[in-house]
Amino acid sequence: MASTYAQLHERLAAAFGALVPGADPALRVSDHADYQANGVMGLAKQLGRNPREVATEVLGHLDIDDLAEVQVAGPGFLNLRLRATFVAAQLGQLAEDERLGVARDVPRRVVIDYSAPNVAKEMHVGHLRSTVIGDALARLHRFVGHEVIARNHVGDWGTPFGMLIEHLVDLGEDRALASLSIGDLDGFYREARAAFDRSEEFRERSRLRVVALQGGDEETRRLWRILVEQSMLYFSQVYDLLGVTLTREDVVGESAYNELLGDVVADLSAAGLLVESDGALCAFPAGFVNREGEPLPLIVQKRDEGYGYAATDLAALRQRVGELGAAELLYVVGAPQAQHFDMVFAVARAAGWLDEDVRCEHVAFGSILGADRKMLRTRAGSSVKLVGLLQEATARADAALRERDAQLSDEQRVELSLVIARGAIKWADLSTERQRDYVFDLERMLSFEGDTGPYLQYAHARQRSILRRAEDSWSSQDVAFALVEPAERDLALGLLGLPEAVASAIGASQPHRLCTYLFDLAQRFTAFYEACPVLGAPAPTRDERLALCEISACTLALGLSLLGIEAPERM
Ligand code: ARG
Repeated sequence: MASTYAQLHERLAAAFGALVPGADPALRVSDHADYQANGVMGLAKQLGRNPREVATEVLGHLDIDDLAEVQVAGPGFLNLRLRATFVAAQLGQLAEDERLGVARDVPRRVVIDYSAPNVAKEMHVGHLRSTVIGDALARLHRFVGHEVIARNHVGDWGTPFGMLIEHLVDLGEDRALASLSIGDLDGFYREARAAFDRSEEFRERSRLRVVALQGGDEETRRLWRILVEQSMLYFSQVYDLLGVTLTREDVVGESAYNELLGDVVADLSAAGLLVESDGALCAFPAGFVNREGEPLPLIVQKRDEGYGYAATDLAALRQRVGELGAAELLYVVGAPQAQHFDMVFAVARAAGWLDEDVRCEHVAFGSILGADRKMLRTRAGSSVKLVGLLQEATARADAALRERDAQLSDEQRVELSLVIARGAIKWADLSTERQRDYVFDLERMLSFEGDTGPYLQYAHARQRSILRRAEDSWSSQDVAFALVEPAERDLALGLLGLPEAVASAIGASQPHRLCTYLFDLAQRFTAFYEACPVLGAPAPTRDERLALCEISACTLALGLSLLGIEAPERM
């Protein structure tokens, strides 16, 4: 089905186009009318004419009477109020459409780089954000038909592995395995670090280990793989707990780009982009300067001949475009790495690896703060572990469910607590504009009221419960939508809005736009349910209202699933 927005847009675009070909009507959902087109303002400016006059001329070309009533408002806005017949017809189609009006896009291959924890280090809340946002974007892109290639750019390479391997040797493999398998990655890392700081002999061994690792020494590689494997097992457990789509196949760690680094250097020097500076090979992308106004280097090969983080990212980008054929690259990484990515993208463009038509975006996000509005830390000052947060959230959800006495068996309650906990954590993360920091407040996140995951899940469960009570006393077939009550009409308009919400979330890589839409929809439903009795309504109205409940439930469930949040049938 063509979405409501798409149909209105098509008519408007034709009328605007009659004045200036390709002119954008700038159509959006509006509080003042059902929809508003603001494009006249831009058009008038472009033509150097009076906006109201231009509006009248656009109206003269506009053939939209069967869909909406149009009025010129303010300096030249076009306010559209949808015809009841159009709303009813759209809703009728929605009821039959499992995609709820969301069309498929022209398929693109999209590489999404997300999660990317580090081997032998705990996954912290920054990785939580990357994992949750990246996974939502992956689901959204897949739903509209894109081919998503997830890339979990795990930090599994570099100088720290010298000391980590030596520590493993000192502990003995059995004890090392035991310590790593209980998930105490940070403990292991800290001990290695302590030995490194304490002993010159250990430092020397670590240095030699790095050389052996890079040189491909077999025994060293075997020990390294133990560290990688144990960490991977642990990450998989976290992914399972979180309910994300990432799999082992998506893990292409930094080490995987080793063999490509030589080609990167060759390409860059052939393009004349490499300069020797203090013994290191650097690129100086145009326009990047430090505070003193001096050109900023992107270090490609270090003085000791080793490669660093930037070289690996260059190799990964080159491979993602050149070999995987990506049309779009998204990097879901914290805001502090903005300059790193800007520079990597600039060097890649200069090297000719990135055509103008390849879209490349650093999907940056802000920090998670504690109640004191500083970076979230434990009392002891270390970074907060993801698993601990999930466990605490689950325990709290469990307690809340006990209090609500929702007549659940122990087993159901345990399962539901996890569903609620991860829904709460994901919603809190996704519903704030990603660039902003947010305060991690479990109590608020888990509340059944307000802009929270549990509220949305509960709204859905309530709709399902109404439908269960109606059982088969009604049929969703051929329901006539009269939409007499204003609250019914408001809900119906909300239901028609999913396609734009999805498109806008994808277009801006902003899952929170879908959250905003879903929260608004849940509120429209509440208003409807307060104003309009459903089960007790007389015959044709009852079916109509039950159909509204059903489409609402489907829309919430689909919308939440695109964010990676489950919508249980009962709560
Ligand atoms: N492992 C890195 C970190 O923990 C994040 C990697 C992000 N992805 C990338 N392609 N650089 O900070």
